[in-house]
Amino acid sequence: MTQPVRKAVFPVAGLGTRFLPATRAIPKEMLPVVDKPLIQWAVEEAASAGIEEFIFVTAPGKEAIEAHFGPAPALDHALEEKGKDGLLRESRALAALGAHVTCVLQPEPLGLGHAVWCAREQVGGEPFAVLLPDDMVLDETPCLQQMVAAYGKVGGNLVAVEDVPREHTNRYGIVDPGDGEDTGERGALVAVAGLVEKPDPSQAPSTLSVIGRYILQPRVFELLEAGERGAGGEIQLTDALAGMIGDMPFHGLRFSGERFDCGDKIGYLRANMAYARDRDDLRDAVAVLCKAFV
Ligand code: G1P
Repeated sequence: MTQPVRKAVFPVAGLGTRFLPATRAIPKEMLPVVDKPLIQWAVEEAASAGIEEFIFVTAPGKEAIEAHFGPAPALDHALEEKGKDGLLRESRALAALGAHVTCVLQPEPLGLGHAVWCAREQVGGEPFAVLLPDDMVLDETPCLQQMVAAYGKVGGNLVAVEDVPREHTNRYGIVDPGDGEDTGERGALVAVAGLVEKPDPSQAPSTLSVIGRYILQPRVFELLEAGERGAGGEIQLTDALAGMIGDMPFHGLRFSGERFDCGDKIGYLRANMAYARDRDDLRDAVAVLCKAFV
């Protein structure tokens, strides 16, 4: 029996330079995909996977993220007066989620590994999820839900993986599957024999990239404690994870669904189109719009 995954860490301290000038005053996690900010999509995905506590690793200037999950009495009152019951329900549901949000400050931008380490006290000694809100996965079964189900079978550390073009390996953590079996099918688990952060295409052990969804054991905090710098001079989560290979089960889940990198302008636009097309009230209008652009 694996211990249930009850907590999730959301690293949201980044500067969002890839989206300047939009992110000058607005955190990139507050950019909307259709009509919800990225952070809300990520928190709702976590909630659907059974997560009960949401830990935001944040930085000064990113208060809008916390405020999004805070109470909004004046707005709620106005919505009530106008009889906008659906919107009022949504507003209250956000505040209800917010009751389970904790914020912790990352004092310096030292890398993803450092951001996760900043949440060590809030996570404590139990397995936890990490979700990078930039990465979105559209599927009937939310990605983290797929992972929690797989984790129930194998335990240990679990990362979501998909193949990328070889010329893109230097953008991601890349899995070395060793001699293990890999059917390449969606839903399949791949045993992780090695992990490298952003390898040059000529050096990459495979084209299997880690996306921003992890289920991790708390031992990762011990490895992160050393504060060793890796690729780009940053404290990398990938390096700490690599240090646990062989000590406990470690798998990549070939998740099902389409992944969007919303840290990238085209990825973000694609996500908006795909998520709008997924909505009953917008699907037909999106089809018309797409035709108008070809
Ligand atoms: C981070 C991780 C990388 C992972 C990626 C997924 O990189 O360091 O291993 O593949 O997220 O999106 P970043 O996008 O922060 O550069």
